[in-house]
Amino acid sequence: MSLKNRHVISVKDFSREEIDYILDTAEKLEPAARGEERLRLLDGKIIALLFFEPSTRTRLSFEAAVHRLGGQVLHLGSVEASSVMKGENLADNMRVTSNYADLIVLRHPLDGSARMATEFASVPIINGGDGSVNHPTQTFLDLFTIRRESHLEGLKIAMAGDLKYGRTVHSLCHALSLYGAEMTFVSPPELRMPSEIVRDLQKNRISVKETDSLEEIIGDVEVLYMTRVQKERFLDPEEYEKVKNKLKITGDLLSTAGPNLKILHPLPRVDEIFPEVDSTPHACYFKQAFYGIPVRMALLALATGVIE
Ligand code: CP
Repeated sequence: MSLKNRHVISVKDFSREEIDYILDTAEKLEPAARGEERLRLLDGKIIALLFFEPSTRTRLSFEAAVHRLGGQVLHLGSVEASSVMKGENLADNMRVTSNYADLIVLRHPLDGSARMATEFASVPIINGGDGSVNHPTQTFLDLFTIRRESHLEGLKIAMAGDLKYGRTVHSLCHALSLYGAEMTFVSPPELRMPSEIVRDLQKNRISVKETDSLEEIIGDVEVLYMTRVQKERFLDPEEYEKVKNKLKITGDLLSTAGPNLKILHPLPRVDEIFPEVDSTPHACYFKQAFYGIPVRMALLALATGVIE
């Protein structure tokens, strides 16, 4: 199987076989991601990181992934220091950056911007998150974490928090539907999973339940995928204030959890997971952030064709 020159825009563009191939490749690269092996697979290759929206994990783990593969990174730097401030559009930005790099990683606030960028770039684009639509590299690393720490096939998972705006949960529920998951969505009514996503899952015979109570589901699930309420997506600050503190994972809540429950979170968290949870065997979110490196190494190596 070759993924050479494939754009990575949405998990929906990938079959289950291709996803498994990406996860298998990431597993093989994990020792190098930990610095236990030295690889030169991207020797001579330049990867452009164009981030038009804030990021810590995606930006730094992509940069770490390039270094671990022996390649070099080209940064846009801050948007304020770029010609975006002079009015340069994304299309021209893609045309120009394609001449400087062998692959572009793009994060952009506008829904659909990554797909649009592929029309103007002459090198592969990896979507580092666009608006509230897609965050495919996060989904691949979420799947990798679930496979490593629990299991993928027939998983009983709850996704909680901001299910309306959360691009990570939108992508993850599609990907998990390929593995026949049982899903429970936990959110305040204002932040429910979009009905078109629920309908799509049901059409694919995926069992879906909805509730606003973590207490109701904590004893029944194998993975709890928690998300932050995304203040930056609310047009009305009062609406954010109303919902921001509705769901919290505390030590008390975990007293009724099964022993094998794994808690994931794409991070950053604000205060939806209490610090006391970090030292429990349930907490997987910092490992999950590390798994971003082998997974992004795999995507870079496959899309540039240095692994086929
Ligand atoms: N999970 C995630 O995308 O984090 P960043 O926004 O810090 O990249």
